[in-house]
Amino acid sequence: MKQTLGNMYVKNKRIILRCDFNVPIVNGNVLDETKLLKSLKTINYLLQEQCKIIIISHLGRIKNEEDKIKNTLEPVKNTLERLLNRPIKFAKDILSEETKNMALSLLPGEILLLENTRFLDIPEPKESKLDENIAKHIASLGEIFVMDAFASAHRAHTSVVGIAAYLPSCIGFLVEDEINMLDGTIKNPETPFTVIMGGAKVNDKLAIIKSLLPKCDHLLLSGGIANSFLYALGLPVGESLKTENPDTLNELKKLMLEYKNKFAFPLDAIVETTYNHKPNVRNINQIETNDVIKDIGIKTIAKYSAIINNSKTIFINGTVGVYEETAFKNGSVEIYEALKKCSGKVILGGGDTISALNILGYKNDFKYISSGGGATLEYIAKGSLPGIDAISDGDNIEILDL
Ligand code: 3PG
Repeated sequence: MKQTLGNMYVKNKRIILRCDFNVPIVNGNVLDETKLLKSLKTINYLLQEQCKIIIISHLGRIKNEEDKIKNTLEPVKNTLERLLNRPIKFAKDILSEETKNMALSLLPGEILLLENTRFLDIPEPKESKLDENIAKHIASLGEIFVMDAFASAHRAHTSVVGIAAYLPSCIGFLVEDEINMLDGTIKNPETPFTVIMGGAKVNDKLAIIKSLLPKCDHLLLSGGIANSFLYALGLPVGESLKTENPDTLNELKKLMLEYKNKFAFPLDAIVETTYNHKPNVRNINQIETNDVIKDIGIKTIAKYSAIINNSKTIFINGTVGVYEETAFKNGSVEIYEALKKCSGKVILGGGDTISALNILGYKNDFKYISSGGGATLEYIAKGSLPGIDAISDGDNIEILDL
């Protein structure tokens, strides 16, 4: 196990805290506060320990100067000030002398938020490629590095994996809770164990599908993932999202052969026809040339709900339909209803999960919701993440105040 915050002596120390504040922002407002709320446990603990806290995070992808305007962390600062009910200092230029002075002169219980680490990707990618000089510079602002950005831990970026090489380090409570939750549920799942995979691109999910197939009892497919498997079987999927890569299609065929009894496919679909944009119900073997599959139909909902109901552990990744569009959200709603009612342990994570739960009104109905997208999937598939591997092992307390 990695060094944990609870086992570090942090009182009065200057802490570099890596959070994941990559949140949706529209017109200067944070639209979804879930990631910020999940970070409060660590921040409040550090405040209670009279730490001087320097928070770093990325936001969005920065390719040009215009991206910088859209992706400033200032709205996050405002929201965090409200959630913590205290002022937060803000430093616009991570590398400036002024920022260094601000960090070094922080008083116990004060917080400084640094501007988006990905601003360092212009003119060259110094955040998104590991840059030792930048890592060293950020490390020089603090005394201890706390990694609490689970959702970013799959990125071998400077602010994620670089800083721990120059400071004593530990994982924060958010990361510790995520690891305990995923290890405690999916590593050795109670069976029957069912996996529900939705989402658009099969290539993004192939590694996790391959890692989960040997240990799950049922793999329920939907969305672009299901389309690709159906297409690999030679079934027509019209103009629906699918992979056409022959190597991938072959791989899907092999998986279906090897784990034949585990796969569950949709029986029917709600499609949108490209010429009139109207929703129609189709049997899955009767998809027409102009159809785009956008949701599962009621026969599939009944089939999948029965499997869910008989499962002891269920992991769901992605949504079964295009939940953002009213005509195609029913499948997602009904699957969440089935998950809510079942007696098994339900773990939700990856991709669009948090936003789907928020939009469809289910965010308070489940106990195990991972804050990660790609990170959650990679952790389940590989059992480790670069941002967690970089943290010191925690056999003993690292810093003693003697
Ligand atoms: C996420 O929201 O999944 C993380 O913040 C990672 O973001 P990225 O895909 O832009 O690296």
